[in-house]
Amino acid sequence: MCGIVGYVGTEDAKEILLKGLEKLEYRGYDSAGLAIVNEEGVHVYKEKGRIATLRSVVDQNEEGVIGIGHTRWATHGVPSQINAHPHQSASKRYTIVHNGVIENYAQLTREYLQAVNLASDTDTEIIVQLVERFSSEGLSTEEAFSKTLDLLKGSYATALLDSESPDTIYVGKNKSPLLVGLSDGVNVVASDAMAMLQVTNEFVELMDKEIVVVTRKGATIKTLQGDVVSRDSYIAELDESDIEKGTYPHYMLKEIDEQPYVIRNIISKYKDENENIKLDEDIRQAMLDADRIYIIAAGTSYHAGLVGKQLIERIANKPVETHIASEFLYNMPLLSKKPLFIFISQSGETADSRGVLVSVKKMGHKALTITNVPGSTLSREADYTLHTYAGPEIAVASTKAYTAQMAVLAILAVDTAKAAGIDMSFDPLQELAIVASAMETLTDKKEVLEKIAREYLSVTRNCFFIGRAIDYYVCLEGALKLKEISYIQAEGFAGGELKHGTIALIEDGTPVIGLATQEHVNLSIRGNMKEVVARGASPCMISMEGFEDEDDQLVVPHVHDYLTPLVTVIPLQLIAYYAALHRDCDVDKPRNLAKSVTVE
Ligand code: M6R
Repeated sequence: MCGIVGYVGTEDAKEILLKGLEKLEYRGYDSAGLAIVNEEGVHVYKEKGRIATLRSVVDQNEEGVIGIGHTRWATHGVPSQINAHPHQSASKRYTIVHNGVIENYAQLTREYLQAVNLASDTDTEIIVQLVERFSSEGLSTEEAFSKTLDLLKGSYATALLDSESPDTIYVGKNKSPLLVGLSDGVNVVASDAMAMLQVTNEFVELMDKEIVVVTRKGATIKTLQGDVVSRDSYIAELDESDIEKGTYPHYMLKEIDEQPYVIRNIISKYKDENENIKLDEDIRQAMLDADRIYIIAAGTSYHAGLVGKQLIERIANKPVETHIASEFLYNMPLLSKKPLFIFISQSGETADSRGVLVSVKKMGHKALTITNVPGSTLSREADYTLHTYAGPEIAVASTKAYTAQMAVLAILAVDTAKAAGIDMSFDPLQELAIVASAMETLTDKKEVLEKIAREYLSVTRNCFFIGRAIDYYVCLEGALKLKEISYIQAEGFAGGELKHGTIALIEDGTPVIGLATQEHVNLSIRGNMKEVVARGASPCMISMEGFEDEDDQLVVPHVHDYLTPLVTVIPLQLIAYYAALHRDCDVDKPRNLAKSVTVE
């Protein structure tokens, strides 16, 4: 969701910024732009649509060794060329890019900018106009920038150019992520390290309400009050090849195929030399101390959290509630006496989850973040972090992060059970190895799954996924995958709930994908499938070895009862992928969506 890049060095800034923006495409955007400074002034290019469109309008002879760039995911104002960033102040002295949402922009406009003709419908533009207003009152650019940021309510990551100091980028942040990258005589700014790995792998994180003055010679971090802050840099453990598609047509397909390796990686990271679970003692103690666990997440991570509830309750015998982050924030249930909060987030930047984290930390509760990005905001601000080791996930549709989250939750559940003295025959490390092989069997069945997608989903308007018990949670995820990338209206339902209303939607040929992996509900889910078939549905039953029926469309290899979601989701991911391809959808960059949802 929105991305920022900035460069100050010695090379062609426009090319570095364009490449950086291409690396941020995965976050989701609907317009893009950049500004380059040279002796003639500041030159702004911006376009609605893809980076390729922006690239086509940038003057190839544009010279300049300093600039900023942006991908915009519209919040205030429609996606358009005018609303695209960068935005400029009335005199064009100042140029800005911004991620986030300024909640008090209307009030600030009334108070300070009555006399200014705003050119766009964005909340961003007021930032640059305020800087100009305060600088015209005698403040230096840095002072005017700090004063402006101090007035803003909401979230921002922002980078500012001043045509009168053509060697400097001013950056600031609150709630939205932003990094400064360091190199010899070259410094950069990026929402995500991936964008600037082309220049450096050494980065400094910014904290909320800090500004940084970035020049070729260095980067000085200060508080909004002007106090200098010293902070160590870190080396991003990322390789440029981790973020390339290689021979794959789409990141999503590559990431689906990576799942067996991810699971094996998790096994190796969480295993000690005696083949036992290796986990931080403080996390173990926090789990033991808690009288109830609250799992907070959004989207696919929420679906992993639903499975996590089952795992922790069944294995560790501890009560768990799983909540949608955006709801929990405004509708908090009565909490237990000693809660532990677990935040699950691929990106570690989801604003809804962060809102809950900030609020429960204020209440004095402990928090553990399970994330794929250990240096992320949710990781830094929680008391503890468990890494999912899935490697960068670029496709908007989350796949390998989901299975990695569930694997880590299974390990955590067993570790807690053992620490609590519960007799445990289930060895998650061994069972996950079996899961990895089962995943491989399924990723090898692409032809079968492509055929299912073609037969069931090429022309349909809607699709239902039904399951019972833990299979129901996977149905929610299967439906989300299908709708987000193929735009087919899809819903996951608990098999028994259908006849309480939803069965009215079943017509001749309506595809219904069923999951049957659980012995105790096998007969009942098959009964539910018969009910929809009797009303004309086209059934596609996916079952697990041991509980299959000869008419089932796909039988997945047998894995431990607790871990079936890690396996059954693979065909659902591939079915969604092929359905999207058959419908000519942009698989990796679905419409209206952002990879990292950094606004509430
Ligand atoms: O980074 P997070 O795991 O916190 O993201 C949460 C959701 O935005 C995310 O899972 C989203 O639902 C996926 N795009 C679904 O594929």
